[in-house]
Amino acid sequence: MVQEQRKRGMIGKAMTTELIQLLHDKKDEEAFKKAGKIIKKGGLVAFPTETVYGLGGDALNPDSSRKIYEAKGRPSDNPLIVHIADTQKLAEIAEKVPETAWRLAEAFWPGPLTMILPKKKIVPFETTGGLPTVAIREPGHRAALSFIRAAGGFIAAPSANLSGSPSPTTALHVMRDLEGRIDMILDDGTCAVGLESTIVDLSEDRPMILRPGGITKEALKDVIPDIVLDPGLMSENEEQRPKAPGMKYRHYAPKAELFIIRGSEEKVIEKINSLTERDLKEGKKPAVLCVEETKEAYHAPCVLSVGSRLEGEEVARRLYSVLREFDRQGVDRIYSEGFSEEGIYLAVSNRLLKAAGHKEIHIP
Ligand code: TXA
Ligand code: MG
Repeated sequence: MVQEQRKRGMIGKAMTTELIQLLHDKKDEEAFKKAGKIIKKGGLVAFPTETVYGLGGDALNPDSSRKIYEAKGRPSDNPLIVHIADTQKLAEIAEKVPETAWRLAEAFWPGPLTMILPKKKIVPFETTGGLPTVAIREPGHRAALSFIRAAGGFIAAPSANLSGSPSPTTALHVMRDLEGRIDMILDDGTCAVGLESTIVDLSEDRPMILRPGGITKEALKDVIPDIVLDPGLMSENEEQRPKAPGMKYRHYAPKAELFIIRGSEEKVIEKINSLTERDLKEGKKPAVLCVEETKEAYHAPCVLSVGSRLEGEEVARRLYSVLREFDRQGVDRIYSEGFSEEGIYLAVSNRLLKAAGHKEIHIP
């Protein structure tokens, strides 16, 4: 019976989710205390970070990690990131902390950087998806740090979305995905970065970027010149799969089918307009993802801009919100303009490519 209810998601949806708006005054302390208590008792609290909202549980409690997988509907072989609030705590959960890790922490923590290191015994395999390594991040967000401290110092947290949908950048996104499945949501408005942290693997000989994100490859190279990008990241080749388990799934995706159209600006506009006209004739509802500079050029019934092409940070901040908006408008197909792979645009292009399941059209 219980098994059956669990399968249908009835047990996971039975609880009431408390939404607490942070006010940036003394009252917040009470909220952090209350959230901390929930975590210590094995419950789940969604909290803001500078990248995306996280779904937090006690990283050292295997039952909490199991609950996180269940609430998200996520495969349990996809490891979680452990969030800390004090850099020195790195050595409490990582077995060997190389000099490069301290240098990266010095340069980018607190901030949107996650490091992979060999784990210490106290980190349960439930948290690391069975791996001997652990992902660690000190987020650059005041409320996140206060919450982590109030909750004991080690918070396991994936992004606070249902598995497969775009990561949440507002508390409302979290509410829509996880209401009834978790104990509490701490609301602190919109996330400043808007895309997940950059993941750097330091557990092997050569430092490697497993996921591009808020800290750019260029900035990392300034600190570790020999760092390389996981060759499986932007590749479609089955034999060259990404090293981070989470990067293998079709991920970050809206419900509608997404295509990326690449080529000169003029050609892309022409192609997208002809595709959307064809879709309309077939009785489908097509949509366009574009930038401020080109949005007037499209004829589709739904055209959403992610910001100016000259403002990469803004594009990153708005991307997931726009992908979710397409779902809300019930479109069938999305045609997206392409972006470069420089600076923050590497992360934008990587997420779009994954959302599109690598469906790209190149116009010569
Ligand atoms: O910005 C972020 O990183 C957000 C916020 C909440 O901190 N968190 C986040 O977590 O994006 P999640 O679970 O959605 O993504 C974690 C990624 C997954 O792709 C996972 O496979 C990878 O990190 N990962 C975690 N531990 C790993 C490990 N030991 N080795 C390789 N990849 C790992
Ligand atoms: Mg995620």
